[in-house]
Amino acid sequence: MRVAGLVKRYPDRSAVDGVDLDIPRGECFGLLGPNGAGKTTTLRLLLGLTTPSLGTITVLGYPIPREARLARRRIGVVPQSDNLDPDFSVVENLTVYARYFGLSPREIDSRIASLLDFAQLTDRAKTNLRELSGGTKRRLTLIRALIHDPELIILDEPTTGLDPHARQHLWDRLGSLRAAGRTLILTTHYMEEAERLCDRVAILDQGKIRALGAPRELVERALPRFVLEIREPVDEGLSLDPACYRLERVGALTLIYAAQREPLADLVDRLHLTRYIERPTNLEDCFLKLTGRELRE
Ligand SMILES: Nc1ncnc2c1ncn2[C@@H]1O[C@H](COP(=O)(O)OP(=O)(O)OP(=O)(O)O)[C@@H](O)[C@H]1O
Ligand SMILES: [Mg+2]
Repeated sequence: MRVAGLVKRYPDRSAVDGVDLDIPRGECFGLLGPNGAGKTTTLRLLLGLTTPSLGTITVLGYPIPREARLARRRIGVVPQSDNLDPDFSVVENLTVYARYFGLSPREIDSRIASLLDFAQLTDRAKTNLRELSGGTKRRLTLIRALIHDPELIILDEPTTGLDPHARQHLWDRLGSLRAAGRTLILTTHYMEEAERLCDRVAILDQGKIRALGAPRELVERALPRFVLEIREPVDEGLSLDPACYRLERVGALTLIYAAQREPLADLVDRLHLTRYIERPTNLEDCFLKLTGRELRE
């Protein structure tokens, strides 16, 4: 999958504003970014569901949007909001979708049986959609995307709204797809999810890529290794050795970064802190730093 110079303009803004990406086969790639960053628009461009204003797109060797219909036969899609048919049962939803890909009735039956098993949904096969919880519908949307055994799977916020069990289950299933050599491109607002699943991530903001690389690499590039989060007032006049500490104030929260743990422990003693957390920096810190801390949209 390769895009170069990708731009999507709407009358009042550019949703995607000069994106270059090269995602090799077999990679699990995460597209991160605040609300309105352009993640869904980028995925829709890859699928040929909307046409670019500028730039070139190649997916599985097909030029997009020109040969998008051919490409889509080899791509599985989990959209941001479920678009299952509420009047049908689980199996009926899968069957209708499978027919669209021209599978034979025998192939359809065996694919559905193995996918229901994969998602632990076998006992819900005949259940009507209206009786399913949001998490179960999300699992169904995932296996529906896999019905034609696609090489590339595009997932727009696959775990939003799921409880911790359902999320773990989905992570496990995505892990096994990755182990089976499938290419995964997903968006998520859960930084822990991106750190666990993705080989590389891009942080998108206002249609532009702000950072690209392995999650650990991005964190190391953006921030020192450790942070002290202080949840009590800290003297405004506090002076810290800039060679050792980096200080940031976010509302009532004070963040102090350092490359080692010891200087942070010293500070806890020196300031007699009682309400604090000392921890390694993570992708969420990096995300907040790169995209600013103000709300978007
Ligand atoms: N059809 C459209 N017409 C006009 N503007 C649009 C259209 N689709 C998206 N936009 C705008 O483009 C920007 C990017 O939207 P997009 O849905 O790609 O964001 P996102 O990163 O997926 O956000 P979220 O995390 O909230 O899903 C937003 O400002 C949005 O309002
Ligand atoms: Mg979106």
